[in-house]
Amino acid sequence: MHDDQYSDRDPLAAAEEHHLRSLTVAEADGDERAVEAALRPRSLDEVVGQQRVRDQLGLVLEAARRRERCPDHVLLSGPPGLGKTTLAMIIAHEMSVPLRLTSGPAITHAGDLAAILSGLNEGDVLFIDEIHRMSRPAEEMLYMAMEDFRVDVVIGKGPGATAIPLEIPPFTLVGATTRAGLLPGPLRDRFGFTAQLEFYDPRDLDTIVHRSADLLGVELTSEGSAQIAFRSRGTPRIANRLLRRVRDYAQVRAGGVVTLAVAEAALELYEVDDLGLDRLDRGVIDVLCRRFGGGPVGVSTLAVAVGEERETVEEVAEPFLVRIGFLARTPRGRVATPAAWAHLGLTPPPGAVGDERALFETDPG
Ligand SMILES: Nc1ncnc2c1ncn2[C@@H]1O[C@H](COP(=O)(O)OP(=O)(O)O)[C@@H](O)[C@H]1O
Ligand SMILES: [Mg+2]
Repeated sequence: MHDDQYSDRDPLAAAEEHHLRSLTVAEADGDERAVEAALRPRSLDEVVGQQRVRDQLGLVLEAARRRERCPDHVLLSGPPGLGKTTLAMIIAHEMSVPLRLTSGPAITHAGDLAAILSGLNEGDVLFIDEIHRMSRPAEEMLYMAMEDFRVDVVIGKGPGATAIPLEIPPFTLVGATTRAGLLPGPLRDRFGFTAQLEFYDPRDLDTIVHRSADLLGVELTSEGSAQIAFRSRGTPRIANRLLRRVRDYAQVRAGGVVTLAVAEAALELYEVDDLGLDRLDRGVIDVLCRRFGGGPVGVSTLAVAVGEERETVEEVAEPFLVRIGFLARTPRGRVATPAAWAHLGLTPPPGAVGDERALFETDPG
C-alpha cells in the first residue's frame, strides 16, 4: 500500500507534500478553482485595490449602460493571480449579461472560434483567457469579428474554397493575457480599453486576507493577517492560498487561531520566506548567482537550470523578482542585483554584475 509510508507521519507533512507544488505556482488548478470561486469579488465595489483600473473600467461600463450599447472590447493584462478572470466575470455581471468563457489554447482552428462566435447572443461577454496563445488564423478571424461583427467562414479547400460571410451580434470581447507584449499590434489595437493590473501593496492584500478569512470562517489576528499579506508576493491568489495553508497549520498544531507566531511557523514550514519568495523565485536567483556568477544569462538557460518552462520563469517568477529589485532584464540577459546576492547571504565575486565595488570603477570602454 503506497499510503503506508505516510501513515505514521504528521498529517501536516503529508498535506505539505501535496500542496508544495501548488504553493509555488501562481496559477490555480483543480480544487483551488472551487475555493477561488467562493472568494471572488462579484462586483466592482467588492474589488480591493487596483483603484485606477476600477475607476476606468467603472466609467467604461457606466457609459455603455447609458448608451444601451455593449462596452468596448477590454484587454486585461498582468501576471497570474492578480484578478483578470475576476474582472472578466465582473464585467458580465455589471452588464447583467452572460459570460462565455474560453481560452487561447482551446482555439486551435479558426473554425473553433467561428463556432463560438456564431453561438453568441447580442450583448454577451466573450472571455478569452490567455489570448496570446490563440492560433494565427483564429487571431485574424477575431480582428474582423471585433471590428465589424462579421467573419468569413471558409468552406472547402484550394481553388474551390468559398468564403461565406457570417454576421455576429454585437458582443464584448474581454481578453486576458500575462504577456500583452506578445499580442500582435492589430489585435491589441482593437481593444477599446486596456487594463494593466499591478501587483498589490501589502495593505490591500491585508484587506483581501481579512475578507477571505471572514468568508472561510477563519479566525485571525491583525498581525497574523499582516504577515500573510506581506508574504504574498503582491498577489491575491497567493494571499488566499497562504491563508488556507496557515489555517491548516493553526487547526492541526495550534489552537485554530491564526496569530503572528502561527503564521510565521506555518509559512516557514511551507518554505515561503520572509519576503514571500517561494521555491521557484529562490531557485531562479540561486541558480543565477551560484551557477552563473550573477549573469547575464539568457532566460531559456535559466529556465532549464531550474527545471521549469521558460514561460513560467518569465511570467511568474521574473515580474516579482524585478519588482522587488532582485533581478534586472538586460539586453544581454538576466542579471542578479546586489540585493539578490544579499538575500541569499552571499557576497558577489569581484567583477560580478552584483558586485557593488564594480559600480565605482570607471569603465575604460
Ligand atoms: N482585487 C481583488 N480583490 C479581492 N480578491 C481578489 C482580487 N483580485 C483577485 N482576487 C482573488 O484572487 C483569486 C485569483 O484571481 P483571478 O481573477 O483568478 O486571477 P487571474 O485570472 O489574473 O489569474 C480570485 O479567487 C480572487 O478571489
Ligand atoms: Mg485567470
